[in-house]
Amino acid sequence: SEGSAFVVVANRLPVDRIVAEDGRTTEWRRSPGGLVTALQPVLQAAEKGTWIGWSGDSSHIDPFTLDDMRLHPIPLDDEELRNYYEGFSNASLWPLYHDAVEQPIFRRRWWTSYERVNARFAERAASVAARGAVVWVQDYQLQLVPAMLRRLRPDVRIGFFLHIPFPPVELFMQLPRRLEILHGLLGADVIGFQQPLGAQNFLRLTRHLLDMKPKGHSVMVDDREVKVESFPISIDTASVEELAASEKVTRRAKEIRAELGDPRNIILGVDRLDYTKGIEHRLKAYRELLSEGRLAVPETVMVQVATPSRERVEHYRTLRSSVEREVGRINGDFGQVGLPAIHYLHQSYDRAELAALYRVADVMVVTPLRDGMNLVAKEYVSSRPDGDGALVLSEFTGAASDLKQAYQVNPHDLDEVKAGLLRAIQAPESDRRKRMRAMRRHLRGHDVKHWARGFLTALGVPETATAYNS
Ligand code: UDP
Ligand code: G6P
Repeated sequence: SEGSAFVVVANRLPVDRIVAEDGRTTEWRRSPGGLVTALQPVLQAAEKGTWIGWSGDSSHIDPFTLDDMRLHPIPLDDEELRNYYEGFSNASLWPLYHDAVEQPIFRRRWWTSYERVNARFAERAASVAARGAVVWVQDYQLQLVPAMLRRLRPDVRIGFFLHIPFPPVELFMQLPRRLEILHGLLGADVIGFQQPLGAQNFLRLTRHLLDMKPKGHSVMVDDREVKVESFPISIDTASVEELAASEKVTRRAKEIRAELGDPRNIILGVDRLDYTKGIEHRLKAYRELLSEGRLAVPETVMVQVATPSRERVEHYRTLRSSVEREVGRINGDFGQVGLPAIHYLHQSYDRAELAALYRVADVMVVTPLRDGMNLVAKEYVSSRPDGDGALVLSEFTGAASDLKQAYQVNPHDLDEVKAGLLRAIQAPESDRRKRMRAMRRHLRGHDVKHWARGFLTALGVPETATAYNS
């Protein structure tokens, strides 16, 4: 069959395969995380775009078409799940790249699996890509794919985008197999980061480890130029705004507010249950404000959505128990019969339900210790057709560079988090609206299509080549 001109390669497909309890019927459910949120509309807009990714289980499934996307599932067996995915990707790379906010764990046996799975993705991309195609590799799980693919298919344009932070040299140097990772990435024509600092860290690393002499935003590998730049990712602003203003979401938002007892202040958090998100820090700030009587139940209520994530990885289990202990403690101390201080939801919600939650949240609280971007913060801003709302946002998110008018805080400074929450709750309506208006306008000009266009232009792809237009 004829190959694809535009190929996205990511650890996960945009959908996860769910096998029903009868063991036979399967359905496809949207996968978790910001990468999928951002890339799905990009691929849908491209003509004949293909997405190569893990199906969420170990079965071999033929390529199929779903919602205007050509999907190529890659299976992972249990050993690969443990060593490539849970091990090297999520217990070594994830914590290391997020400032080592939890101790990275290194196990030698994880590496062979990481290499083998990366090779499988590269081989699939090589067989799917048309002559001269654009192949766009995503994120930390697949850092070896650019160089592997180049060896197989020197004719294709290869882009790589890292959705998470790229660490400073001192931290990266801890990584076993650091040279292989660096060479893997340098197989790309363009290496994209969320923030200018990530690109700088990467360029410094090429000096330090390979004695390269970067010129401006690029380095030379043999005679080939590799561009190293930042492209802050974003949301599909128009569709987020449209969904939030829809009748269905408007109705559901009213319902939720009533179900919560129509309190004066609704504080909302929405995160994967991940230790980078600073969930414990925000809970502690909330508890102290309640215990000092500066906030009170039932006038104030908090809703925390904590979507299940990477549940077999040790750090995630520990986090879950400590978050749940703290939620229990807060409700025990400050709740009343029928009136909890915090509604804790260890579940995954669809876009419409989240939009309804965003609409009722008087204050959205986003306190990561480190986050490549944080799309939840951007979704909140664009989900307020009423023009109201207040965003408390950690300085250590990529989103903080875009959302300058948020109430920004250092999540490690508990007093600052508390002050930020109070400021957001007590701000005069005119101040809140002014800030939200400025941020909403920024997101209209800087949506995910703007991001994709920026990256693909750097890759030298004329928009017509991927039939990708705004
Ligand atoms: N999300 C979702 N359902 C949930 C929780 C989150 O669909 O129950 C989505 C959310 O709307 C956002 C993405 O998951 O688009 C999370 O992206 P973000 O960049 O905030 O964080 P990540 O999970 O990628 O670290
Ligand atoms: C972040 C990562 C993605 C990842 C997502 C969900 O957004 O950057 O690469 O897909 O989290 O995590 P998971 O491990 O469930 O794929």
